[in-house]
Amino acid sequence: MHSKPTYEELEQEVEKLKDKTNTLSEIIESNPHGIALIDNSGQYIHINAYFTKLTGYTLKDIPNKKIWFEKAYPDKNYKKQIAQTWENDNKKLGMGNTREFKIQCKNGQSKQIEFRSTFLNDQTISVLTDVTQRSEAEKALKESKERLKAIFGANPDPVAVYNAKGYPLYLNDAFVETFGWTLKELQGKRIPFVPKDQEELAQNKIKEIYTTGHPVRFETKRLSKQGEVIDIFLSAAIIKDAKGINNGLVVNLKNISDRKKLENQLQHAQKMEAIGTLAGGIAHDFNNILFPIMANTEILLMDTAEESPIHDRLQKIYKSAIRARDLVKQILIFSRQDTIELRTMKLQTVVKEALSFIRSAMPSKIEIEQHISKSCGLVKADSTQIHQIVMNLAANASHAMGKKGGQIKLSLKEKIFDQHGLIDPDMKPGSYVCLSISDTGKGMEKKLIKQIFDPFFTTREKGRGTGMGLATVHGIVKKMNGFIKVSSTPDKGSTFIIYFPLVKL
Ligand SMILES: Nc1ncnc2c1ncn2[C@@H]1O[C@H](COP(=O)(O)OP(=O)(O)OP(=O)(O)O)[C@@H](O)[C@H]1O
Ligand SMILES: [Mg+2]
Repeated sequence: MHSKPTYEELEQEVEKLKDKTNTLSEIIESNPHGIALIDNSGQYIHINAYFTKLTGYTLKDIPNKKIWFEKAYPDKNYKKQIAQTWENDNKKLGMGNTREFKIQCKNGQSKQIEFRSTFLNDQTISVLTDVTQRSEAEKALKESKERLKAIFGANPDPVAVYNAKGYPLYLNDAFVETFGWTLKELQGKRIPFVPKDQEELAQNKIKEIYTTGHPVRFETKRLSKQGEVIDIFLSAAIIKDAKGINNGLVVNLKNISDRKKLENQLQHAQKMEAIGTLAGGIAHDFNNILFPIMANTEILLMDTAEESPIHDRLQKIYKSAIRARDLVKQILIFSRQDTIELRTMKLQTVVKEALSFIRSAMPSKIEIEQHISKSCGLVKADSTQIHQIVMNLAANASHAMGKKGGQIKLSLKEKIFDQHGLIDPDMKPGSYVCLSISDTGKGMEKKLIKQIFDPFFTTREKGRGTGMGLATVHGIVKKMNGFIKVSSTPDKGSTFIIYFPLVKL
């Protein structure tokens, strides 16, 4: 058993307790957080110096919770909302609830405060931390993210942001629209859109960008999800993290397929122009050479008896000369150096005439379907040449279908082009009369289509075709200020559409 403490001993204990209390209140007072002690009736028992420094309020200003609420949350609705939150938290009697509210300080300034409340016996200890700066930084970060998203979103070019591993972190709407993949599908993967023949270039450019640190720009190609090849003008730049370390890439992929197509068409048109000039020049000289051959052969034929073997030979010379003359005529048409005058006319009648001609000449295994719109308007043309276009295209269609036969569809109708649908750099928006001839024949590869209008280009057997058919069609159409569109799928068939500008009276 302990003996009763002496008076001295008790005094010592009291001193020790006093020391302890002093240390505790020193800790509370020197704490760099606001601290408030509230009893269960809502009276403030104590607030530390930092609380006053933070909010400006002394114990006199806020004797109880009700007055604190009125002063700190002058907005009625906000006050109600906070009171509700606290009440719910109190019901749960949780320890260390953490909440963030915006308070109004005594001097009217607003501060974002984090409250941590702990319940101790009948009292509540509230610890207040000023998080205004953190919350402002968070807000600024969020705003900057939103701004970036808006900038990328508004960019009409596809944009991809990659992390350091080369996986996409962000894709804008234009990317999804152009290439067909969503970010979800590509998460944690490389985008499988670099064609084999562009891989080396891509690798080299990535190396370049990481070694020099400078953005790169170059023309290349990318594949869409459907496997379509798209011409791209690519610009890429490094993204660095806060420490300045390379953290990924931002890549802008401008779709330049349309521009490329127009460039190619222009190049093709220029090539045709050059060939035309050359061929036309030769044809003229050739005509001059042919003329005396034909004239003299004709005279000799008249002077020679039909039974004579010489007559037969002369006949052969004459026939060959006529073939040569026809060929020269075609070349002159192609090079647009013939002298035919165009008239304003409707195409329905001449197209129908040509069709009935074709019908009689076509093998029976070929079925011909026609859609000729009666309402098609006027164009500037020459009926013999229109006839020739239809004949040449139909003959090609028939050759493409071979012995198996198939179907030829011919249509004539009007079409209006606006700025966006134009098929040629020289084409102007407006109304056109379109003559379309399609077949179900063997079709053509893209590479072949590029050559078919070249004079003397043919894939037919030697001695079968001259390869002047489409060159002639091209020459006629150009002279009429028209345009030709070819589309074809190997083994499926081809469609040739010719657009003649409508003449408005
Ligand atoms: N409808 C078509 N389907 C498939 N290939 C075609 C078609 N039209 C043209 N071609 C291809 O284009 C080539 C050139 O055609 P073009 O009419 O100029 O000459 P050709 O038909 O070979 O000879 P020619 O017309 O002088 O008898 C053809 O040899 C063929 O390879
Ligand atoms: Mg032909």
